[in-house]
Amino acid sequence: MPEKGFQTELGQLYQCDCMRLMQSMDSDCVDLVFADPPFNLDKIYPSGMDDDLKACEYIKWSERWLQECIRVLKPGGSLFVWNLPKWNVPLAAFLNQYLTFRHWIAVDIKYSLPIASRLYPSHYSLLYYCKGPIPKVFHPDRLPMPVCPHCSGDLRDYGGYKNKMNPSGVNLADVWTDIPPVRHAKYKRRKDANELSIKLLDRIVEMASDEGDVVFDPFGGSGTTYAVSEIKGRRWIGCEIGPIDEIVARFATLPEERMYLQRIRADLNCLFTAKILTLRQRNGLWTVESVRGDQREVQPALFSSAK
Ligand SMILES: C[S@@+](CC[C@H](N)C(=O)[O-])C[C@H]1O[C@@H](n2cnc3c(N)ncnc32)[C@H](O)[C@@H]1O
Repeated sequence: MPEKGFQTELGQLYQCDCMRLMQSMDSDCVDLVFADPPFNLDKIYPSGMDDDLKACEYIKWSERWLQECIRVLKPGGSLFVWNLPKWNVPLAAFLNQYLTFRHWIAVDIKYSLPIASRLYPSHYSLLYYCKGPIPKVFHPDRLPMPVCPHCSGDLRDYGGYKNKMNPSGVNLADVWTDIPPVRHAKYKRRKDANELSIKLLDRIVEMASDEGDVVFDPFGGSGTTYAVSEIKGRRWIGCEIGPIDEIVARFATLPEERMYLQRIRADLNCLFTAKILTLRQRNGLWTVESVRGDQREVQPALFSSAK
């Protein structure tokens, strides 16, 4: 087993090649894998690793680390791979041989300038697989109903369906449009890392793991997965081939990230956020409460406890 570079009560971070770490891990020992590898875009990483491989070499390398991720994943565990669509197409074909495909999640983030003779690249691909027929844990968040940003009014005509809307919010779809890029240097922990939003990891960790479960991310970067896992009471195993001082420093500012996540979570699993609800009431628009009378007739079971 490689030597630990950092640890908390819940997690362990190793500074080494993830292949070396995984080869030292038991089979079937983690509940959730999230992987955000380098995209082979010829970027310069502090570790000096080669990010400009021939396509076939990049795919072979990816298959090698994925094979190890599959081995360490427990039956019923979930695996997520964040990459460009170009790479996730062949990687999905590989994963289909060993795991059960759940979703190709398109995360709407513009990541390059428009290119002549090409469509404007506007989404990252998030592959979602599970080991075995169904995932052991699956509790996706529900999102607030989209409303007009100016008047908080409906964007669609819900007609007679208002009273059938779930008061806990709208089903999470496989297109995510509410994940912010971490672009501004001020908010980045590591200037040269492709740091992901903690909102993205919060959603994944919440959807596919329970408290106390083990989350594994082989490509640490700035440590987003580890910070979110720590905040959410998951055990975690991490690995980064380059310097790990930014990850370690990040744990000193965890209370700020915890507060940010609390603010995000306050606006989930409800049909209207507190702010939108106030605006709608002020503007005389319908709310769950105002259509509740009708709902008692349509979905009595949902309201039986309120009698
Ligand atoms: C795209 S970044 C991950 C960013 C991370 N998800 C975040 O939000 O900060 C990929 C990271 O993987 C690291 N890396 C590349 N090859 C590796 C390997 N073989 N083992 C461990 N880490 C590796 C790179 O140094 C880089 O920091």
